[in-house]
Order: sequence, then structure tokens, then C-alpha cells
Amino acid sequence: MPTPVDIAPARGKLGVLLVGLGAVSTTTIAGVLAVRNGIAKPIGSLTQMGTVRLGKRTENRSPKISDVVPLSSLDDLVFGGWDIFEDDCYAAARTAGVIEPALLDQVRPELEKIRPWPAVFDQRYVKRLDGPNVKKGKNKKDLAEQVIADITRFKADHHLDRLVMVWCGSTEIFATESAAHQTIESFERALEANDADIPSSMVYAYAAIREGIPYANAAPNLTADIPALVELAAKTGSPLAGKDLKTGQTLLKTIIAPGLKARLLGVEGWYSTNILGNRDGEVLDDPESFKTKEESKKSVLDYILQPQLYPDLYKDLCHVVRINYYPPRGDNKEGWDNIDLVGWLGYKMQLKINFLCRDSILAAPIVLDVALFLDLAKRATMHGIQEWLSFYFKSPVHAPGLYPEHDLFIQLMKLKNTLRYLKGEELITHLGREYYD
Ligand SMILES: NC(=O)c1ccc[n+]([C@@H]2O[C@H](COP(=O)([O-])OP(=O)(O)OC[C@H]3O[C@@H](n4cnc5c(N)ncnc54)[C@H](O)[C@@H]3O)[C@@H](O)[C@H]2O)c1
Repeated sequence: MPTPVDIAPARGKLGVLLVGLGAVSTTTIAGVLAVRNGIAKPIGSLTQMGTVRLGKRTENRSPKISDVVPLSSLDDLVFGGWDIFEDDCYAAARTAGVIEPALLDQVRPELEKIRPWPAVFDQRYVKRLDGPNVKKGKNKKDLAEQVIADITRFKADHHLDRLVMVWCGSTEIFATESAAHQTIESFERALEANDADIPSSMVYAYAAIREGIPYANAAPNLTADIPALVELAAKTGSPLAGKDLKTGQTLLKTIIAPGLKARLLGVEGWYSTNILGNRDGEVLDDPESFKTKEESKKSVLDYILQPQLYPDLYKDLCHVVRINYYPPRGDNKEGWDNIDLVGWLGYKMQLKINFLCRDSILAAPIVLDVALFLDLAKRATMHGIQEWLSFYFKSPVHAPGLYPEHDLFIQLMKLKNTLRYLKGEELITHLGREYYD
């Protein structure tokens, strides 16, 4: 048997720091409170409902994941966060309009206690937003110190044992790596010089990572996925995950595309369009924020279908992604996909998918799982990029020179094998010859 990894127990309280108390964050927090109070079930969450098979098929051992690895219990979670609006979590959840008021009212007192701290915000990175609850500082380094002071105070006030941070803020404008992002020194100099290449999200990421706090990015913008912050994470022991939660249309894409490829069915075109009416939709209506999202959504098919290996099937694939802001729909996004397929002898077929989903209902269990698994990674001293959490993201962060794994089923196998590895259980290869020997 392999040796289990030493994992510190999940003792005491875990502080979950959420940047941006919008639709995703409030749906996560209200959901956890509802589950904790026995009012609802944590559907969609692997940490709460998932199982993992251990050993041979004949052993019939499929315990709950939460019984295999030591995860923090929902009762031990304490939420805190920042937003540019002053609304407490109850008011913000009402504005988001995802969870119905009758359910929210049952956890209202607990939600009202969560009031956002002033945010690090600069409108140049999110053009469609502006709000009053914003920090002032000498420069970005000073703002990062203020974020660290918020975290330190929160930890002391609630007697927290450990912390994790998840960026659930709005999608910032498209950015690429620059000289400022290359080393810890260049990054810290850029913070002091108020360099425009450091968006608000990086200020929070820096603060968390400097403190050795696990950090995940739920949005597609460039934050911790730069050499300077990966280097800092290695130094401070901070696990990293991201980016862009894989929820509606992309989730389905990464379920269906591997199936089509497995049967060597060609794809000539994949047209994806969405209508969305929440604040996220409004922010994404700005072309610069949309570009960040588009890049994230579009990379998926290329990696899954591997046109370089299967030129006859996927070389000329035309992949189009659109998001249209349509206020009447609120958080209940509707996605349409038209897939033009090619079969035996080049005969053409079409597949149409109409997904009437609820964006934040799909996102909330992911935020919970990522927070709990990152805390587990920290206690197991697994630092830096956590590729086994790719399962949850549209643009999984990965080591330089490696291509990201997008196939949902390979991602799940990677995640569960990581749990087996942590516990010193045999990894499952699905070879299965032993049953016939
Ligand atoms: N819901 C999903 O299915 C899904 C999937 C993938 C990614 N995401 C991403 O998650 C993020 C959150 O989505 P949402 O639906 O909750 O959006 P939202 O607009 O409801 O919430 C975002 C919140 O972040 C706040 N904010 C923006 N910049 C901030 C800053 N610098 N500091 C503190 N707060 C800040 C906003 O005021 C807002 O309250 C978005 O970037 C979105 O693209 C969501």
C-alpha cells in the first residue's frame, strides 16, 4: 500500500474570505446557512454529497468523500468579504434575486451580520461598475496592507484557526502578463508605483498569498496566475486554484465534446449564445470584460478535440461564443448551442442544446467545494497550483509548458485519485484485468 500523506486535522473554525458579495457569494453563503440549519440540501457539492470508490470493485467500498479526507464541517465556516456596495449579505442576496425571499428570511439574522469591508476598486478595470464602499490608499501596496489588516481583524474577532480566499468579484478587463508580473520583486515595486498592470484582483491575491492563505479565482481575469504570485505562493505555502467557474454552457461543453471525440465524430461548428440579466451580465456587456470571458470560454474545445491529432475531424472547427445582456432574465441564464457534426462518410448532423440554467445555483457548490478542498490542500502542505481542482474551472491554471486538462471526466478522475493518494489508497486505473485472471 502507498503511504498516506500527513494531513493536519480540520480543527477549529475556517474563515472563508469572499471578494465581491454579489450573486455567487451570497448564494454560497445563504446556501451554506440553509444547509447548516437543515432547511435545504447541498445538491451539486462533491464535498457534501460525493463518494469515492476505494480498492477493488469487489470490495464495495464507496465512502463519502467527507468521511475519507478531513474536511472542515459546514458548522465551522465563518464568512467575511469585501464589496464596493455597502449592502449586508441579506440585502445583497435580495438584490441578486437568486434565492427566493421565503428561504432567505429563514437565515436573515445570520446574513445581516455579514457586512462587506471597503473594497480595493478602480473603475478602469471594471468599466460598468461604480460604488461608494472603496478604500483609499497611498498606493497599491498600501491597499494590500489594508486588506491584510481586514483579514487579521476578522481572524481575531471570530477566533479563526485557518482562512481561504475566493475572488468572486466582477470580471475585470482583459490583461496579459507583463514585466511587472514576472518576479516577487518586480511585482512589489509595481504595487508601490501604482502600476496600471496591477488590477484590484491582484492586490487581494497578493495579500492572501503573502499571508500563506489559499487563494482561488472564480472569475476569468488574470490574478494569481502570474509568475510573481506563483513564486510567492511557493514561498509562503499558499495553494492556488482557478480560474473561471465551470458552470452552465462550458460545463455542458466539457461533458459533450469528450463524448463526441471518443466516438470520432467530427465537429464543423459550435455556436454558443447566452442571454443573461444579472449584474455579471451587465459587466460582461462591456467589450473589454467580455474579451476576458470569451478567451476563457473559447479555449476549451481546442484542448478537448485536439485538432492537431485529428485534422480530418476538427481542423476547421468554427467556434463562436456570445453573451447578451438581457435584464428580464436575471440570474436565470438561457444558453443555446448549435453543434454541426460530421459522421461516417462525411454525412452532416446537428445537435441543439437549450440549457435553462441558474448561474449562481450552479456556481455556489463549486465555491464551497473549492474553499474546502483548498483548506485540505493547505493542511496537507500541498502548495502552489492545485491542478486536481481543474474539475471546477473553465480555464484551469496549470504549470508552464503543460496543456490544461479540460475533459470533465479526466478532471474528476484526477481529483478522486488525488484524494486516494492523500489517504494512501491504491489509485484506480480502470484496467480491471484482475477480475478475469
Ligand atoms: N455565476 C456563474 O455561473 C459564474 C461562472 C463563472 C464565473 N463567474 C464569475 O464570478 C464572478 C461573480 O459573479 P456574480 O454573478 O456573483 O457577479 P455579481 O456582479 O453579482 O457580483 C460581483 C460582485 O463583486 C463586486 N466587486 C467588483 N469588483 C470588486 C472589487 N474590486 N472588490 C470587491 N468587490 C468587487 C461587485 O460590486 C459585485 O457585488 C464574476 O466575475 C463572474 O464572471 C460566475
